[in-house]
Amino acid sequence: MIELGVNIDHVATIRQARRTYEPDPVVAAALAELGGADTITVHLREDRRHIQDRDVRVLKETVHIKLNFELSCAPEIVGICCDTHPHQATLVPEKREEVTTEGGLNLLGDPPAVKEAIARLHACGIEVSLFIDPDPQQIETAKALGAKAIELHTGQYALSKGAEQRAELDRLIKAGVIASDLGLRLHAGHGLTYQNVLPIASIPNMFELNIGHSIVSRAVFVGFQNAVAEMKRLICQAAS
Ligand code: PXP
Repeated sequence: MIELGVNIDHVATIRQARRTYEPDPVVAAALAELGGADTITVHLREDRRHIQDRDVRVLKETVHIKLNFELSCAPEIVGICCDTHPHQATLVPEKREEVTTEGGLNLLGDPPAVKEAIARLHACGIEVSLFIDPDPQQIETAKALGAKAIELHTGQYALSKGAEQRAELDRLIKAGVIASDLGLRLHAGHGLTYQNVLPIASIPNMFELNIGHSIVSRAVFVGFQNAVAEMKRLICQAAS
């Protein structure tokens, strides 16, 4: 069965809009768990625009499912991740001016910051997933760098339509085959919605989907637990 990672960053985005205490992402995490989430995903950004250090500390204490800590390779954040000791760390690129994560990590040329971050996380006993575009060279390099999993960036798939979307889906399917042949666990995420998730959930060997914005948006109208349960039902439907 495919695992659902619920990204709760945007609950914190709403809280930070007023710099107040509500809505609390810790409450969202508990409701996501009740709704059937398998993992809680948070991205502690260097600029702390949504998730705060306190959230990570409290989530580590209160989340009873898996905790997926998304982070850049910034040494400070890698240190916080090591102290938190989540089930999994997902390394992502981060640019100060972006609205959300744009594009996957570029692993070509063995970037020293990525290697250093992976080495520190591994030294702490944390499994590493790398967020990359569905590109064969990136996938092979992820394997060579010692990643346990890759998260395929589905942003381009989500943004496109018609024949272009079909072509993006084919790229993701082929990338999934390469990853599985290399023994990498297959994850995907970014821009997935109730409308576009089924083909992605149907990719052979898909293990985990990380979904945030669409679930948080639906939660405004139907409640967080219901929104998570609906998404979980959908992806399980694809898997069966
Ligand atoms: N996976 C990764 C690596 C991300 O950076 C994000 C966005 O924070 C997501 C998944 C979730 O994307 P969305 O909010 O579009 O569902």
